[in-house]
Amino acid sequence: MKASAPGKIILFGEHAVVYSRPALAVPVTQVHVDVEVLDSPRKGIWIHSQGIDLHAELNSLPADHPVGSVILNLFSTLKISSLPALDISIDSTIPVAAGLGSGAAVSVALIRALALHLSHPLTDEQINDLVYEIEKLHHGTPSGIDNTVITYAKPVYFTKGRPMETFNVGKPFTIVIGDTGIPAPTKESVGDLRRLWLRNTNYFESIFNEIAQISLIARRSIESGKPELLGDFMDHNHSLLQEMTISSPELDKLVSAARNAGALGAKLSGSGRGGNMIALVDQAKAESVAGALISAGAKRAIITEIK
Ligand code: PMV
Repeated sequence: MKASAPGKIILFGEHAVVYSRPALAVPVTQVHVDVEVLDSPRKGIWIHSQGIDLHAELNSLPADHPVGSVILNLFSTLKISSLPALDISIDSTIPVAAGLGSGAAVSVALIRALALHLSHPLTDEQINDLVYEIEKLHHGTPSGIDNTVITYAKPVYFTKGRPMETFNVGKPFTIVIGDTGIPAPTKESVGDLRRLWLRNTNYFESIFNEIAQISLIARRSIESGKPELLGDFMDHNHSLLQEMTISSPELDKLVSAARNAGALGAKLSGSGRGGNMIALVDQAKAESVAGALISAGAKRAIITEIK
């Protein structure tokens, strides 16, 4: 059985989402994880992943291995006690630790392919819940936005602890994603912000409220076919993230480069400090903005249409 899952980016509301403010995230289908599960002629559960040079039997992996823990969690949920003989191949084009959701996408595709192969098809809701549990094992206190947008593979308006809402894109728009090439340490930036928030709660709460407003208006603009309005919202959200100490000189440099090359607006996306930034562009300018990001030091630029 085969299954795949897309990457994702956060358009608005990262970090504030940890404090129960709404955030918007969209799937990025240009990058994806593909998993194939086959019955194996030899005993055991064999996992092959060219990308991370992994060829190992499940029992030989450390207990907290991300792939191993997904498989064991699924088996325990499905109450499967005798392990079948399987060959599992995992291929991913999603850059790791870059805010594109590679970990959640591996979990979603793996659970989907395994559940189908074992004739225990799961609903998206069940998959989302399972992947959230896995995300918690590896990331501490994730908001749940990654697993949600990747499981449903649709634009998501997400508020922690509330039923998730998908929404429609009134008119397609183009985003360029620029990668600083620096790992984005989610746990660290979330932890740093928490310490600052504890010391100066009112100040940060008012920033989070401003971000909540941006997410709300941005969603309306996307739904009503006015994506060109998102540029200013991105600039505003980026300056609030700077105030939250979540940006970095490298991210700021790429954000400026995108704006100077004609982007309608730009901001960091995800955990910050490293990882990605995003820029809203007219389709005709996408290549030149991508080129400007590479010239300004981006390791990679991905052009994606949100529809
Ligand atoms: O770096 P990413 O795209 O995985 O996003 C992290 C987003 C945060 O809001 C910083 C954390 C979270 O759990 O939502």
